[in-house]
Amino acid sequence: MIQIAPSILSADFTRLGADLDAIQTADMVHLDVMDGAFVPNISYGVPICKAVDKNTDMFLDTHLMIEKPVRYIESFAQTGADQISVHLEADGPRGIADALAEMERCGVKKAVALRPITSPQAILPYVEELDMVLVMTVEPGFGGQSFMMHQLDTIRQCRAIIDRYNPNCLLEVDGGINLETAPLVKEAGANVLVAGSGIYGAQNRAAAIQALREA
Ligand code: DX5
Ligand code: ZN
Repeated sequence: MIQIAPSILSADFTRLGADLDAIQTADMVHLDVMDGAFVPNISYGVPICKAVDKNTDMFLDTHLMIEKPVRYIESFAQTGADQISVHLEADGPRGIADALAEMERCGVKKAVALRPITSPQAILPYVEELDMVLVMTVEPGFGGQSFMMHQLDTIRQCRAIIDRYNPNCLLEVDGGINLETAPLVKEAGANVLVAGSGIYGAQNRAAAIQALREA
């Protein structure tokens, strides 16, 4: 089963309620939090995440693109996040382990994210306790970028590690997902597809969600 996770980074923030209503048929809402340090862009933080939680009953998939995320796990758990992803490049191994422990304590699902530069092997120390692995298929920081074809290999290698050590763990891909790239990432083993511009750039968002699911 393929799950679709629209990213509200490409939504109209003056009509967030309507833009959440428009994606009701998706499986979760993807929230991109950027700090201007881990990535060169600043997106939004706790208040917007709380506003989303207030406006929808959907599962909230919060992608933290911030340095030393352990500092903010509790704050984002309190925004109603159901799952949090932290970047493996955002802290040392101790900091990542502590961030995952903090997620456990706060009762949110646990995920780690990989920048395109990061080896799939980097998930090995954590994979058995994870609910999801997020493979970036663009350099994190901005919506609307082109899919990096070489990341198909990273997806395949993460799929092999997950199948071996924790088959229930989901494999999410994020960046440049559209009707051309969706079949490629599915074939490589992804089962959760994030899409920002691919969904919010369409006139009919429900149709775009369905099309990505079936692509
Ligand atoms: C990029 C974010 C993505 C972004 C995807 O740093 O993590 O979630 O919103 O946008 P598209 O689908 O437009 O590439
Ligand atoms: Zn994201």
